Amino acid sequence: MRAMGTTAVHSARVQPPEQRLPTFRLLRRMIDNPVETWPRAVYQERVFRSRILGCEMLYIMAPDLVRRVLVEDADEFEKGEIFRRGLGPALGDAILTADGSRWRWQRRAVASIFRPEKIRGFVPAMIAAAEQTCDRFRSQPPGTEIDIGREMMRTTLDIILNTVVSGRRGIDWDLMQQSIDHYLEPTAWIMALTMAGAPRWVPYPGIRRARRAREHLHRAMDALIDDARRNPGDGQDILSLLMRATDPETGTSMTEMDLRYNLLTFITAGHETMALVLTWTFYLLSLDPQVEERVRREVAAETGGGPLRAEHIEALAYTRQVIQEAMRLYPPAALIVREARRDLRLGDEDVRAGTTVFIPVYAIHRHEAYWRKPDEFDPSRFEADAIEARDRYTYLPFGAGPRICIGQSFAQWEATAVLATIISSCRLRLRPDYIPELRLRVTLRPAGGMPMRITGVQDSV
Ligand code: HEM
Repeated sequence: MRAMGTTAVHSARVQPPEQRLPTFRLLRRMIDNPVETWPRAVYQERVFRSRILGCEMLYIMAPDLVRRVLVEDADEFEKGEIFRRGLGPALGDAILTADGSRWRWQRRAVASIFRPEKIRGFVPAMIAAAEQTCDRFRSQPPGTEIDIGREMMRTTLDIILNTVVSGRRGIDWDLMQQSIDHYLEPTAWIMALTMAGAPRWVPYPGIRRARRAREHLHRAMDALIDDARRNPGDGQDILSLLMRATDPETGTSMTEMDLRYNLLTFITAGHETMALVLTWTFYLLSLDPQVEERVRREVAAETGGGPLRAEHIEALAYTRQVIQEAMRLYPPAALIVREARRDLRLGDEDVRAGTTVFIPVYAIHRHEAYWRKPDEFDPSRFEADAIEARDRYTYLPFGAGPRICIGQSFAQWEATAVLATIISSCRLRLRPDYIPELRLRVTLRPAGGMPMRITGVQDSV
C-alpha cells in the first residue's frame, strides 16, 4: 500500500452529529443539508432507525441488507414519494423516476443505446470537449483562478451537446444550467416536507423559481425534439436513438412526453454527476501531487506524448483507480432512496409498508467497519486484489441491481478521457487553505464552488 502523506487526509468531509438530532433541528438541518443529519451511528452500524413526525426511516449500511434492497428484493421496494415529489414534476414518469412495468419497458427500450460499441463511438467527442477546456485554460494568464466546478459543468455540457443532441444549437446552455440549479435548489425542502407528511400543495421557498425553471427545461427539450424531427442529422446521437428506441418484447416506442422526460433525464443525470466526479478528482489530485504525477506519467507512457485516443483510455488502469477512489470519498449520488411496498423483514428489522429506506452511499463509503482509514485518499484500494477482497455492496457510486446506473460505462469512459486530457497539459492548484463544504442537493456538491489556480499549461500536442 502507498505510503500516505499528510495531504492524503482531507478536510472536506461531513462532521456527523454524535446523536440523532431533536426533531426541530433535524428538520431544519435536513432543509439546509440533509447529509449533515446522518448521525455517527450511520458510519458505524449495520442499520439505523429514525423517525420524523410520522415518517419512519431506516438507514441500511450492511452490505447483505443493501443487496436485499437493491437486488434480491428489488421488487418489494419502489422509488417512493420523496423521489416522485422531488424529481417527478421535472422528469415525469421516465426511466429514472418510474416504477414497475412503466420503468421496465423503458429500461429495455434504451438498453441498446449504452452498448460498449456505441459508447466507444462517443469517446472522440469526450476528448474534443476536454481539449477545448484546455484551450480555455491556455488562453488565461498563468496563475488565473478559475472555478473548476463551473469549468467541468461546461465541459460535460459540451460532451452532452455532442453525444446526446449531436451539436444541435439553438439552445441556451447557460440558461439550461441555471434552470437545473434552480430546480434542484429546493429539493431538500421537498424531502423535509414529504417526511413531515405535509400535503403536496404546501408551498416552500424557491417553489416559483423551480416551476419557472421546470417549464423552461420542458420547452427546451420540446424544441430539441422538434429540431431532431425536422433535421435528423446522422441519426447516431442519443436523442435520435431514443426516438427510434422500441421495447424488444412488446415493440412499444416512446410518446412525445416519454421523449421529453427521458431526454431531460439523460441530460441532467449525465451532466451534473459527471462534472462533480471530475471536480472532486481535481480537488484530491491538487492535494496529492505524488498521485497526480503518477497519473500524468501513466497517460504520457500510454500516448507516447501524442494525442489521446480511445484505445489509450482502456489502458489507463491507475487513472481509473484514482477516479474510483474520488467517487468513494465524494459519491455524486450520495443517497439512494427507496420505499417499502409492503410489510417485510430485513435482517433483524421489521419494515412496515411505506417506510422510507435510505442507502446512505456517502456514509457507506466511509464506514469504519468496511474501510481502513476511511477518510484518507488512497487509490490503491481499487487495485484488482483489493476489490476482490471486499464486499461488492460496500461501494455503490452507481447503485446496484436492476436500477443500477445505465450510464455507468459511459461515465467511466468520460471521466477517464477528460481527466487524462486535462492532466497531460494543465496543472491546477486549489486556492491555499480553501476547504470546500459538502452540500447534498440530490447530488453532492462543493458549496461555494472549487477555486483553483492554473499554475502550469503546456501547448497541445
Ligand atoms: C459519475 C457519473 C454518474 C453517477 C455517479 C451516477 C449515479 C447513478 C446512480 C447511483 C443511479 C441509481 C439510482 C437509484 O438506484 O435510485 C443512477 C441511475 C441512472 N443513471 Fe447515472 N450516474 C452517472 C452518470 C450517468 C450518465 C453519464 C448517464 C446517461 C448518459 C446516467 C443515466 C442514468 C439513468 C437513466 C439512471 C436510471 C436507471 C434506471 O432507473 O433504470 N448516469 N445513476
